[in-house]
Amino acid sequence: MSDIEQISAQALADIASVQSPDALESLRVALLGKNGTVTAQLKQLGTLPGDQRKAAGEAINLARDAIATALSARKAVLEDAALDARLAGENIDVTLPGRNPQRGGLHPISRTLERITDIFGRLGYELADGPEIEDDWHNFEALNFPPHHPARAMHDTFYFPPDGSGIARLLRTHTSGVQVRYMGEHAPPLRMIAAGKVYRSDSDQTHSPMFHQVEGLLVDEHSTFADLKGTLAEFVRAFFERDFEMRFRPSYFPFVEPGAEVDIAWQQPDGSTRWLEVLGCGMVHPNVLKSCGIDPERYTGFAFGLGVERFAMLRYGVNDLRAFFENDVRFLRQFA
Ligand code: PHE
Repeated sequence: MSDIEQISAQALADIASVQSPDALESLRVALLGKNGTVTAQLKQLGTLPGDQRKAAGEAINLARDAIATALSARKAVLEDAALDARLAGENIDVTLPGRNPQRGGLHPISRTLERITDIFGRLGYELADGPEIEDDWHNFEALNFPPHHPARAMHDTFYFPPDGSGIARLLRTHTSGVQVRYMGEHAPPLRMIAAGKVYRSDSDQTHSPMFHQVEGLLVDEHSTFADLKGTLAEFVRAFFERDFEMRFRPSYFPFVEPGAEVDIAWQQPDGSTRWLEVLGCGMVHPNVLKSCGIDPERYTGFAFGLGVERFAMLRYGVNDLRAFFENDVRFLRQFA
């Protein structure tokens, strides 16, 4: 057997026994590559005597073609086998339950805010808004806070450093400033509700430096304290979906006269009842109407403000306010 016949026979046997595409590629390079054994044979042709060259050349070409054909046939077989193996491994079990995408949900405070504004929306109150960075006029002055009122003191209110404008800016301590803004832009009769974040320098189990309030305001020609009571009783009933005994306890807020705090009789787990303060309210003080360009001789109005967290805690049975702000999804998920 000539050299080339031996090389060819060995090559075909090697190709037939190769088991991986990588090994097959190495084999191809070793045979037909620039320094491969078959290529070396071709290079040697020139050294042969003239009368042998033609026959030797033909033999090498035949061998090279046979090897190339065997290489590509083996390549196809190995690729098929690899695909079969992959498909067998990737068996899809169509009986597995589907994977649900994780769905988000509203925060319980947002949920409560929506519930409250929705109830007042049905009573005809328009949703209004105001800035959280408020000025002294809207937060205090126009609301009839005397200059010495303790709520203005640094320990309650977050003030911004003076900016040279002469206007004291602060984080609003309540949503009542929205009343002032709304009355500045709307003529009576009017009904508005405002909801949002408020800030006070206070922190414990029932107080957070940031919390949420809802403010309500109605101004009309014949509004009375009885209307206020009826409105709040209706709201509390709609919110908790049951009747409560309520009491209006006289209280002082500079922007209302008379003013009151509202307590509801809350049933404790042990069966006893406890009075729980849930909101502040009163008849809009004539000075406030005047500040906002409304004639207090012709119009009267009532206003109320409530803490959203308090309502959420009562509705959902949560006893630590801070749980709402820790962003622990195990807690929050229960309300989604
Ligand atoms: N703004 C008061 C507070 O934050 C609540 C309130 C609003 C009281 C409207 C009376 C009328 O405590």
